[in-house]
Amino acid sequence: MTQQTFSNAGRPQRLRLGVNIDHVATIRNARGGEHPDPVRAAQIVAEVGGDGLTAHLREDRRHIRDEDLARIQAATNLPLNLEMAATEEMLAIALRHKPHAACIVPERREERTTEGGLDAAGQHNRLAPIVSRLADAGIRVSLFIAPDPRQIEAAMKLGAPVVELHTGEYAHAEGEARAVELRRIADMAALAAKNGIEPHAGHGLTYDNVSAIAAIPQLAELNIGHYLIGEAIFTGLENAVLRMRDLMDAAR
Ligand code: PXP
Repeated sequence: MTQQTFSNAGRPQRLRLGVNIDHVATIRNARGGEHPDPVRAAQIVAEVGGDGLTAHLREDRRHIRDEDLARIQAATNLPLNLEMAATEEMLAIALRHKPHAACIVPERREERTTEGGLDAAGQHNRLAPIVSRLADAGIRVSLFIAPDPRQIEAAMKLGAPVVELHTGEYAHAEGEARAVELRRIADMAALAAKNGIEPHAGHGLTYDNVSAIAAIPQLAELNIGHYLIGEAIFTGLENAVLRMRDLMDAAR
């Protein structure tokens, strides 16, 4: 997203909020028409000071569709983070649209959402040409990985400037298991930053669980979708984004 500035202490000065607008399209697609339009969501996110937009073009196009991408890019000045599987099809689309960032995610057709992190360690040879072709096109590459030192090491070998740490396990765990997962995320954010990789985080974040993640000083960006769009049904997207923003700011 926008150029990150670091303070002398090496801490990002502000934690960016990227809003994933996929599920506006999920609701639209339920009826097959044009409403609600993810473009309108993008504009609202921009109006209330969101830092970026995230959209996942899945192989089955279950939410965002190809034609949405250019419309979303044209609708605001916000940087677009395109979540994509590591396939030739998605690479060609990314190279055509040139989003600010591309976050490579694992994708299985039958899953309801992105269930695990990318096995960057086990798939180096498959990922390397995709990472380099995206980077050569000026697209900032991010790898969506589990908070695991092997995956950070793999991201370093791949030359990825960004990793997004998967917070799904943290979000679903309770009690001590959640504390363990939180420590893992904090440790991996520190390890990534120490090695020159900008750490982001996302998946499953809500008003109730975001604060501990937002308090991790090395994190530069959170990408949040499903919960915000769900809350928007009750309180409006503006209020949902602003409340999440407030919680993130309060945690720093
Ligand atoms: N980051 C990545 C890489 C994702 O795949 C997703 C889900 O599309 C998110 C963040 C947002 O997760 P959620 O919708 O649970 O907030």
